[in-house]
Amino acid sequence: MTTLVASYSLTGHTATVATSIADRLGTKAEPIVEQGARGGLLGTAAGAVSALLGSKSAIAAPLHDPSTVDLVILGTPVWAGAPAPAVNAYIDRHRDALDRVAFFCTQGKVGAAGALSRMERRLGHPPLATLVVNEDEIGDSGALDDRIEAFLSKLRDAGDHT
Ligand SMILES: Cc1cc2nc3c(=O)[nH]c(=O)nc-3n(C[C@H](O)[C@H](O)[C@H](O)COP(=O)(O)O)c2cc1C
Repeated sequence: MTTLVASYSLTGHTATVATSIADRLGTKAEPIVEQGARGGLLGTAAGAVSALLGSKSAIAAPLHDPSTVDLVILGTPVWAGAPAPAVNAYIDRHRDALDRVAFFCTQGKVGAAGALSRMERRLGHPPLATLVVNEDEIGDSGALDDRIEAFLSKLRDAGDHT
């Protein structure tokens, strides 16, 4: 059973969760790299509008081809109640390789349910499991580990031997 953990992260929260998941699975976390700058207030405001509209951004070619693994765990920050544009781009680019997929997202406090359902609609089928992490939970590594274990356990129950 091979698994790829791929995620986009602007300020590091989603990357932290991705690394914890990957460490538990003994695999690497693959960053989804957005091309072009996303700095400053203007960049983040534009990102929120793009996310809300369901737009995608330009992303770099992945280091690991998701079509070569059994399961992809895909992570995004919640932007305006939606996935980040880079994650929309990843779904569009790799849709055929995402037949076995799980989603996770990090958020301030609200919007994760909408972001996850948008990802599901964009992909065209439901994920095997989902995980939502609030940013204030990320500093508490014990609680985060428990949440991640529950997520991976859901995946095992879904028939994935992670
Ligand atoms: C453009 C933008 C839009 C955001 N929209 C939301 C939102 O709708 N709901 C929410 O709870 N948090 C929102 N946040 C906060 C992020 O989801 C949260 O800080 C997340 O953990 C960031 O992940 P990252 O550090 O991996 O980029 C937003 C942040 C940005 C930059």
